This record gives sequence, C-alpha cells and structure tokens, in this order.
Amino acid sequence: MFENDVADGDRRNSLHRHWSSRFTFILAVTGSAVGLGNIWKFPYIAGQNGGGAFVLVYLFFVFLVGMPVMMSEILIGRRGRRNPVATMKLLGEEEGGASQWRYLGYLAIVCSMLILSYYSFIAGWALSYVYESVSGTFVDASIAEVTATYQGFASNWVATAIAHTLFMATTVALVARGVKRGLEWAVRLMVPALVGLMILLLVFSINTGYFSAGVEFLLAPNFSELSWSGVLIALGQAFFTLSIGIGAVMAYGAYLPQETSIPGTAAVVVCADTVIALLAGLIVFPIVFANGLDPAEGPGLVFMTLPSAFGQMSGGILYAAVFFLLLSFAAWTSAFSLMEPSVAWVVERFNRSRVEAAVIIGFLIWLMGFGSVLSFSVLSGFKFYKGTIYENIDHLTSNILLPIGGFFIVVFAGWVMCRNSTAEELGGVGPAYSVWRFLARYVAPVAIVVVFLQTSGLL
Ligand code: PFF
Repeated sequence: MFENDVADGDRRNSLHRHWSSRFTFILAVTGSAVGLGNIWKFPYIAGQNGGGAFVLVYLFFVFLVGMPVMMSEILIGRRGRRNPVATMKLLGEEEGGASQWRYLGYLAIVCSMLILSYYSFIAGWALSYVYESVSGTFVDASIAEVTATYQGFASNWVATAIAHTLFMATTVALVARGVKRGLEWAVRLMVPALVGLMILLLVFSINTGYFSAGVEFLLAPNFSELSWSGVLIALGQAFFTLSIGIGAVMAYGAYLPQETSIPGTAAVVVCADTVIALLAGLIVFPIVFANGLDPAEGPGLVFMTLPSAFGQMSGGILYAAVFFLLLSFAAWTSAFSLMEPSVAWVVERFNRSRVEAAVIIGFLIWLMGFGSVLSFSVLSGFKFYKGTIYENIDHLTSNILLPIGGFFIVVFAGWVMCRNSTAEELGGVGPAYSVWRFLARYVAPVAIVVVFLQTSGLL
C-alpha cells in the first residue's frame, strides 16, 4: 500500500511511505470503517435503543459531526505526516504554540488498543462461525437451535480465547509485514462481495413476511423510545463506525499524497459505511420479528439471526461460510487501522522495527482481550458501573473517549489551525471548505458538548 520512502527533506512529500494511489487510500479508510461496527454492532445497539429514532439521530451524527471530524483527522494526519502523538505535538507547536496537544495522540493510542482488545474477541466469533457454517451446524436449524449454538459458544471461554488468539495472531503477522498490497486486494474484493451476499440476505428478509415490520422498526422514528443515554450511544456509534476520534484515520492520513481530495474521500467512505450499516439493519430486524426474537437481545443478535437465514437457503452452507469469512476480512481491515497508531508510535519513538512493534503491541492487546473473553463466561456475573468488563470497555471507548477525541480534533482543526493551513489541505477556499469549517467550528463541537452535558445530568 505504501510506495518507498521519499527522502527529499520536505515534509509535504516525505518522512514516510505514501499510499500508492488515491484509490488505495479510499480503500484503506473504507476497510477501516466497514467492519463489525456496521454488521454486528449497529443492528444490536439500534435494537437495544428502540430503532427508528436512534437511527435518525445516528444519521445526523454521522453526516454532521462524523464527516467534519473525519476530514479534520485526515487533514491533520497529512499535515503532520507522523504517528498521532508526534503529529499532534508538531502541529500543536506550529499552529497553536502548545505541544500538549500530543496528549490527544496518547489518548488515541490507549483507546485504539482498548477497542482492538474486544474487537478481536468478537472477530474471533466471526472466524469460528466460518467453521460452524462449513460443518453444517446451521443447516435447517431453527432459531432456537442457532441461539443455543451462540450461547454455548459465547460462554465457552476456551473456544472464544482460541478464536481471539487466532485473530490477533493473524492481525499481528499482517501488520508486521506492512499490510501492503494485501489490504488493497482484500478491500477491493471484500466490500463488493460482502454487499452482494447482503443483498442475498435482504431478499431472504423481504420474503419472511415481516419486512415491513423490520423497516418500520428501523426507520420510523418514535422519540419516546429514545433516552439521552441512547443519544450518547448513537454519537459513540457514529464515531466507532467511521473509525474516527482515535487517530486511526489520522495515522493513515500521514501517508496520503498531497493531491488527493480529502472531502471527496470522506464523502465516499461515509456513504459506503452508512449504506452497509443500514443494509445490515434491514436484514436483521425482519428475521428478528419473524422469529419472535427480542430486538434488544444484545451482542449476539447477528449471530443468532443470520445463520438461521442461511440455514434455510439452498447452498446456505457455502453462503454462510463465505459471509462469515468476509466479515472476518472486514474485521481484519479495521483491526489493521486500530494497530496503526500504536505501531507507528513505537516504530518512530523507540526506533523499533515494524515487526517488533507489531508483536509488542499485539501481545498487550491480546492480553487485554481476556477481559472481554471472560465477560461472556466465567466473569459474566462480575458487573460494575455499566455492566461486565466488556460493557465497560465498550462504553468507555465508544461513548466517552471517541467523542472526546473527536471534539479535540475538530476544535484543533477548526479553531487552532490557521485558515491557510486547513484551506491548503482541503483544496482551497470554496463551498466544501466553508461547509466543513462551519460544521467543524460550531455544529460538531456543540453537538458533542450538549450530548455530554445532557447525559451527565448537567443540562
Ligand atoms: N470502524 C470499525 C467498524 O465499524 O467495525 C471499527 C473501528 C476501526 C473503530 C478503527 C475505530 C477505529 F479506529
């Protein structure tokens, strides 16, 4: 994915490798954005938060808060051309006279590692479901049987730990090799194939006889169903699904050639990501209603519904296996971006090789992952604050740290950086620039602060 180092001393072109083309960058950011967040997380949290109203608020956050944050993050990354800590320190000094902005980089490193710790564990489920699909577990299985399979699996900590280990080990191996062309190839193939299989699932859902019930649940807003904590979760999900607020996109932006249009890239990625999440919702909820499941079932929702749909199709074994494999690919391409801030930091800060950095960081993340692995089994009764260890890590990262990171990123790009710098990165002063600047200076920060104040009971 990167071309060789260009060492001409000019930061605009140098320090690191570059993405081989503008298209590769779009693919890499799409690969980061499209993942478990769209297919596994979006349906289950939409279900837990009453559907329609939650989705509407989520869309508001994706386009009016997420999009300007993503543009800000990419432009900061490209201007700094270093790992997030060094980039924030450098730009903080250059633009704002304060190197303390580097703490935003540290926040990104901690947060991305915490997210990957449970992300890898859930991705392990997807990997295991490839195996289950091929073994024929889901053929003609009733929803009750599929649910029992899920519950048996999720609570088996040895099996989930093995899957988590497998996922993390492959991630480390690929990141250590620099990902290179593999990423481009994976995303190019995965996203269209994933959408193709999702359309097949959509046809199934349309034929359940409960499609309109599913659509109504997902898209008809009923604001009495939505609490302020649901609004916070929608905000967190907007950040999570777009991989923003955390330095991942910033780290990728560091390798972006100067000519590439940042608004164009962000628009493509945000739209593709949203379509895939909505598609997942449209598939899952008709199956939920057709089988009398509870939409608020929780993290197992997708793993309970989709296998039963495949199980009833002819050729379902193959489709199910390919689908879960693609879901694992989607998770890998997101996991690479979750490792990039910390790996780039270790490489640059401690002068380590990429292999060493990936192994050290990967090992730490793998270890932290046991908090989540055990949350579904041995430690499922161990609850505090928001619930299990997994629920607390998810809440802390998605709903608190990502929006805080996003807040400081837009404030930095919108208020601290000078107009010339941002205009230069965003292709000059024009309508797109003015819209971005307005959203980055006012809409996004105010929305984040209001949601925080509301949920903390201060408003
Ligand atoms: N956006 C990814 C998904 O939806 O699955 C998850 C993710 C990747 C979150 C990278 C944050 C991140 F930095």
